[in-house]
Amino acid sequence: MSNQQKVKKEENMAQIIDGKMISKQIKDELKEKVAELKAAGTEICLAVIQVGNDPASTVYVGNKKKACEYIGIKSLAYELPEETTEEELLQIIDKLNKDDSVNGILVQLPVPKQINDERIINAISPLKDVDGFSPASVGALSIGQKGFLSCTPAGIIELLKRSNIDIEGKECVVVGRSNIVGKPMAMLLLRENGTVTVCHSRTKNLKEVCKRADILVAAVGKPKMIDASYVKEGAVVIDVGIHRNENGKLCGDVDFESVEPLCSAITPVPGGVGPMTIAMLMNNCVEAGMNK
Ligand code: GUN
Repeated sequence: MSNQQKVKKEENMAQIIDGKMISKQIKDELKEKVAELKAAGTEICLAVIQVGNDPASTVYVGNKKKACEYIGIKSLAYELPEETTEEELLQIIDKLNKDDSVNGILVQLPVPKQINDERIINAISPLKDVDGFSPASVGALSIGQKGFLSCTPAGIIELLKRSNIDIEGKECVVVGRSNIVGKPMAMLLLRENGTVTVCHSRTKNLKEVCKRADILVAAVGKPKMIDASYVKEGAVVIDVGIHRNENGKLCGDVDFESVEPLCSAITPVPGGVGPMTIAMLMNNCVEAGMNK
């Protein structure tokens, strides 16, 4: 390839949004803030509850504990047996709600089938709901009041802002309408003055709608479903999915190889959105401690 061709290729290359680097920046900022709070006599404490031994949950919970350790947040680990009853879990949550030394409470989902996750989420005090899953948190977000933000969508907004990508006035298309990602993502993009469309399994002309997007957020849960045929040239593409193929290789909801040459910026999997979720959880814990 000639030098001129090389320059041309570089001009055409998408910005790879480095979630690992940006999440590290955020964690380092939080580490400083936590040290200042500690010096002033405030210790931040997160209670992490896992019921059963789901292997993926064990990995996620382990990563959350590690992040706490890095930042200087105290973590209380509740590792409860698979047979734990809903009543037992509700009692622990009640005790933690009343414990002034605990700032944040997180129940790792999914919980075993004898436990109703809705009742569990509703039982966590909105003042300690660092996942941002409770009706009070979600309601506050939708009417512009103060409350904890769902970590993955909040992390995506932070990725865009720290990558100097404007949201205001942009056509934003969110594919997926889950309570944890799709719906709060739409609300947050709207709060940033984006023009927002939410697509889902019943959406007609999905490709055409996605092709309108300046910012396309894929949270569908299907490996590599969003290929170049869904993407407008120059769009920003955010991939929330994480899947492991038969060879153990990770991929997202976006077909990276096909989309990257077309778009202006894209998040990789791994190392894009994933690390931001934990960084924003840590941010919520620090906010919980500061608002006490
Ligand atoms: N399970 C998968 N993701 C999450 C999360 O962000 N929070 C909780 N509590 N459980 C999860």
